Amino acid sequence: MSKRYTITAALPYTNGPIHIGHLAGVYVPADIYSRYLRLTGNDVAFICGSDEHGVPITIKAKKEDVTPQDVVDKYHAIIKKSFEDFGITFDNYSRTSAKIHHDTASEFFKTLYDKNEFVEEVSEQLYDAEANQFLADRFIIGTCPKCGNEESYGDQCENCGTSHNATDLINPKSAITGNVPTLKETKHWFLPLNKHENFLKEWILEGHKKDWKPNVYGQVKSWIDDGLRPRAVTRDLDWGIPVPVEGGQGKVLYVWFDAPIGYISATKEWAAREGKNWEDYWKKDDTTLVHFIGKDNIVFHCIIFPAMLKAEGSYILPENVPANEFLNLEGNKLSTSKNWAVWLPDYLQDFPNQQDVLRYALTANAPETKDNDFTWKDFQARNNNELVAIFGNFINRVVVLTNKYYDGIIPEPSDLSSVDQETLAAVKAYPSVIASSIERYRFREASQELMNLARLGNKYLADEEPWKVIKINETRTKTIMYVALQIASALAVLSEPFLPFTSGKLKNILNSRDNSWNNISNKEILLPAEHQIGKGELLFSKIEDAQIQVQLDKLEASKKANEAANKAIEPQKEEITFDDFTKLDIRVGTILEAEKMPKTKKLLVLKVDTGIDTRTIVSGIAESFKPEDVIGKKVTVLVNLAPRNLRGVESQGMILMTENEDGNLVFVNPDVKETANGLKIS
Ligand code: 2FM
Ligand code: ZN
Repeated sequence: MSKRYTITAALPYTNGPIHIGHLAGVYVPADIYSRYLRLTGNDVAFICGSDEHGVPITIKAKKEDVTPQDVVDKYHAIIKKSFEDFGITFDNYSRTSAKIHHDTASEFFKTLYDKNEFVEEVSEQLYDAEANQFLADRFIIGTCPKCGNEESYGDQCENCGTSHNATDLINPKSAITGNVPTLKETKHWFLPLNKHENFLKEWILEGHKKDWKPNVYGQVKSWIDDGLRPRAVTRDLDWGIPVPVEGGQGKVLYVWFDAPIGYISATKEWAAREGKNWEDYWKKDDTTLVHFIGKDNIVFHCIIFPAMLKAEGSYILPENVPANEFLNLEGNKLSTSKNWAVWLPDYLQDFPNQQDVLRYALTANAPETKDNDFTWKDFQARNNNELVAIFGNFINRVVVLTNKYYDGIIPEPSDLSSVDQETLAAVKAYPSVIASSIERYRFREASQELMNLARLGNKYLADEEPWKVIKINETRTKTIMYVALQIASALAVLSEPFLPFTSGKLKNILNSRDNSWNNISNKEILLPAEHQIGKGELLFSKIEDAQIQVQLDKLEASKKANEAANKAIEPQKEEITFDDFTKLDIRVGTILEAEKMPKTKKLLVLKVDTGIDTRTIVSGIAESFKPEDVIGKKVTVLVNLAPRNLRGVESQGMILMTENEDGNLVFVNPDVKETANGLKIS
């Protein structure tokens, strides 16, 4: 029976492109779910858009010396295009800077204000006198009172997911100047979450104990058990939606107040375009609302937004919030600032027309119950060992043989053997097996069931061996190929939510437009005899080691850049006078001989031609250079350093060395005009 669904996917902050963590956690599962619902005949509004307010955008703008509007315009376009190119089928991808959103969020705030659902309070908030600014949200960093994370933000700790008030932080520091903030009085509007505690307990803790994921339920329970407190929903910032009530001048709505309302305004925008009634999707009890989010968004979607909807009074509440855990990358936490990520636009460029490979790798390894790791080797293996070797191989054999034996016309079957009948019965069972996993938000399991259907096809062909049977029994071969084609046809439909590009290609090859999930179980046959299929086309191609190495090298470069950036820079030494400097007698020399000082790790004994003489210099560079590599090198020598005795050898000067950007020791080399760290030698 057709049902109405509103499916939302977290609105991404518009301060950078989308990466694989976002895709695995939110957008790929949400897209699989929405595509599945459409294929099974439901009425679906799949909603998303850019989250364009909030401090992260302002910080990015400051860093790049542009306006926040410039930042959101740039990334909104990049994000929207990459979602489209990746096959995410939002019915509407809107943005929170749109007028319809400003109007909707303002109106929502005013309704709660008029209903006395806010507590208005003048309180002391953290203030940076030097920056002349209140420190909200990500403008303040300090120790999380709950888990001790020293880098918690003012509104939320990303380590433990707790959402708090900025004044709860221990040892707070301004993220703008690094100063310890002072306290200054200001007026704000608070949503009294404590007032909604009983409703939240009943609705979630009692009502959704069984059907919500344990990670989501557990976080919500611990929050409610700790006791809910009023949360400020306005901020002293200049980027955001102005507070639309008296006394609100110079203040904006808290980004987490306006962003979830973005789901509603994006639905309104879509409904107006499509001639639908948006209220059906938000206010009718027979509509199912599901929020797809990452685990850091749980509190906002399970406590704060529902409390807002409840306070407003005319909205439905989410049926489920299937939040995922985090995806790591090659053993480390994904990080935008450290460029430790696989960015979607880069992926689309490096792997053209291979969207489905990433969709599959992220689904098969989705962080559904615990944090998971994405590795490029696993990505390659998922492609080569599963998509190519199982799915692609099966389809290729079916299509090639049908064209070879029957010019692409599906043959008439004869008596079905028991294996044929069992195989066809097994195919008919797959839609409900996969559906059951999807409906329980188990997308990994669902993707593996799909691959099992391809495995079934491969096994059937391997057991029945049509390429051998054709030599002795043409009638039996026709039946085998007929059965194999039914499996291929089921794969074309059932793969659509997971591998939409492949599904499209396969439907083209099979010349079949049948797109109904339920037909696979209900219809007697899927592809009738006499139906003409097309020529083969490779569905997947092998990914070579060299392609994977390119990606690993990119990550290695990020790691190096981070290490260099984090390297503590030695403070400058005490000032010296020009007279001090002129005392140094620096000459260009050439290393004539070099050998390791016996029984030491660090020392090389060098014979150096200084231009005035040839002398012995003992240098502590043996861990960085082999003796044979330095012979003949031009070096810079301090020749009037007082001689020193090192392990019985008199050292008569010093070879000048410095470090390059990788932290490696290098010669201050007179052959080179400029060293890697910018040191100029004349
Ligand atoms: O965490 C984030 O990226 C937020 N921009 C998600 C917002 S979801 C919704 F409420 F809009
Ligand atoms: Zn914490």
